[in-house]
Amino acid sequence: MWGCKGRVAAPSALPPAELQRAKGQSAPSQQSTEPEATVPAITIDKVTKRFLAPGGQTRFIVLDDISLIVGDGEFVSIVGPSGCGKSTLLNIIAGIESYDTGTVTIHPRVAAANAQPRIGYVFQSPRLLNWLTVEKNIHFVLEAQNVPRSKWPDLVAKNLAMVGLAGQERNYPLNLSGGMQQRVAIARALAIEPDILLMDEPFSHLDAITARKLRFDLMDILQRAKPTILFVTHDLSEAVFLSNKIHMMSTRPARIFKRVMIDIPRPRQPEDARVVELEKNLLREFFSVVEA
Ligand SMILES: Nc1ncnc2c1ncn2[C@@H]1O[C@H](COP(=O)(O)OP(=O)(O)OP(=O)(O)O)[C@@H](O)[C@H]1O
Ligand SMILES: [Mg+2]
Repeated sequence: MWGCKGRVAAPSALPPAELQRAKGQSAPSQQSTEPEATVPAITIDKVTKRFLAPGGQTRFIVLDDISLIVGDGEFVSIVGPSGCGKSTLLNIIAGIESYDTGTVTIHPRVAAANAQPRIGYVFQSPRLLNWLTVEKNIHFVLEAQNVPRSKWPDLVAKNLAMVGLAGQERNYPLNLSGGMQQRVAIARALAIEPDILLMDEPFSHLDAITARKLRFDLMDILQRAKPTILFVTHDLSEAVFLSNKIHMMSTRPARIFKRVMIDIPRPRQPEDARVVELEKNLLREFFSVVEA
C-alpha cells in the first residue's frame, strides 16, 4: 500500500491521561524518559498480535501488550532486532494486518478539522508496480488519494527531484537499481503530502551519501509540512539524529523496554557529539537487553 485512509477517532478525542503529565527534566545526556504533553496522531493501546507458527497448529506471540502514542507532528522511531515485529506493527497501523487484542486509533489532525488523515507508507521493500512507469506509479497513489490532477506534474517533479531521480519519469522500475526503486517508493509516499508517514527502514538499502541527503531532506519536510512520522530502523545513530522519541523493542515476544525523548535541539548534525554520545549509550543498553 502506498497511501491509505486511517481509522479515525472522534475529533473530540482527548490526549490520553498519560500524555497530560508534564515533561520531565532533561538528563544531561540529552535524553529523558518522561512523556511530554502532546496531541496524539496515533494511539496504540495494549496491542497483541499472534501469527500461526510453521505447520499451522499453534500460534506464537509477536507483539505483546504494545502501547505507544505518536504525537501530532512528532518524529518517532522504533528500534528493535530483526524479526521482533516492527513491520508487523506498521502494517497494523496502516490497517493491512489484523491484530488480536487492543486498539489502534488514528486521530484527525487538529488543524484539519474532520478530514481523514492521509497516511503514506514506505515499505521495507519498494513494492512498485513494475508494469507502470515511475511517473505512473506516483499517479496511481495520487489518484487513489483524490489529489487533483492539476497538481500531479508538480508533485511528481518535486518529489523525484528530491530523491535524486529527476529525468526518470518515463523509466520502468525493473530498469532501475534496488536503491533507485526504493527512492521512487519514498517519492511516491511523499507525493501525497501525507499527514502521517510510516517508514520501514527506508534508507537501509541506500548508499551512505544518498541516505544522508535523504535524512536531511526528511528533516526539511518535517520543518515545513509537519507530518507525523513513525520510522522503523536498525540504525540507532539515524534514530537519534532524526527523532523526537525512540521506542526500543525487545524480541520474542516484542515489548517496548525503553522509551527515550531526544532533547538535542534542531537542526542537528549526525556528527554532533551529543548525537554520537547518546547513540553510544543507547547501543550499550540495547545490546544488554537483546543479547541477555
Ligand atoms: N504473515 C505471517 N505469518 C506468520 N508469521 C509471520 C508473518 N509475518 C511475519 N511473521 C513473523 O513475525 C515475526 C515478526 O516479523 P516482522 O516482519 O514484523 O519483523 P521485523 O521486526 O520487521 O524484522 P526485520 O527487522 O527483519 O524487518 C517474525 O518472526 C516473522 O517470521
Ligand atoms: Mg521489517
